[in-house]
Amino acid sequence: MSIRVLPGGISSRREFVRWTGLFGLFAGSSGLFAEELMKTPAQTEGPFYPDKLPLDTDNDLLIINDGITPAVGEVSWVSGKILDERGDPVRNALVEIWQCDAAGAYLHSGTSNKEKQDKNFQGFGRFLTGSSGEYLFRTIKPVPYPGRTPHIHYAVKSKGRKKFTTQCYVEGHSGNAKDGIWKGLDERGRKALTVPFAPLHNSKAGELAAKFDIVLGYTPEV
Ligand SMILES: [Fe+2]
Repeated sequence: MSIRVLPGGISSRREFVRWTGLFGLFAGSSGLFAEELMKTPAQTEGPFYPDKLPLDTDNDLLIINDGITPAVGEVSWVSGKILDERGDPVRNALVEIWQCDAAGAYLHSGTSNKEKQDKNFQGFGRFLTGSSGEYLFRTIKPVPYPGRTPHIHYAVKSKGRKKFTTQCYVEGHSGNAKDGIWKGLDERGRKALTVPFAPLHNSKAGELAAKFDIVLGYTPEV
């Protein structure tokens, strides 16, 4: 059996099996039907895509390499599917996320709050989708920083398509209505990009889960 190697991340069979098993917890019907399919709105990449990638770029942003101290923040399992315009899963899509840590600092030399940076937060992660188009990250619930409501940045890279960037927001957060970028979306766009971070069923540690599907439009690579 071949083992799928995630870029810079999970490569041992044991790890792979462990993470694959987790899909059972998060997978399931996304509730998307062809007639409802709406292309996920693209959003600006913003200025804080890491200017130097971390040594560890796997899909667990809470632990860097073999570190023992996890990042500060509300543990959140963020998952979803990458779909094409027909609703079919996109295989071999490289999903990248990046977000600020609990102190509001990004993995970027130009970030604010650099002196308060959480050295245990990976800040950036990658996941290569398989045939189901699913992805999964373990990270923290995003927090606000000056000028922005909480959000997770996404980039999706797949063969034959232009890089797609967007942002995922926290449903019910009071900062959304004051955020210039969120307000720039129409009603359907807000709905598509704003998802609940709900308590994970049976989690004694108070972990959260969020589901964020991305529907790519047909944008030929240039
Ligand atoms: Fe941001």
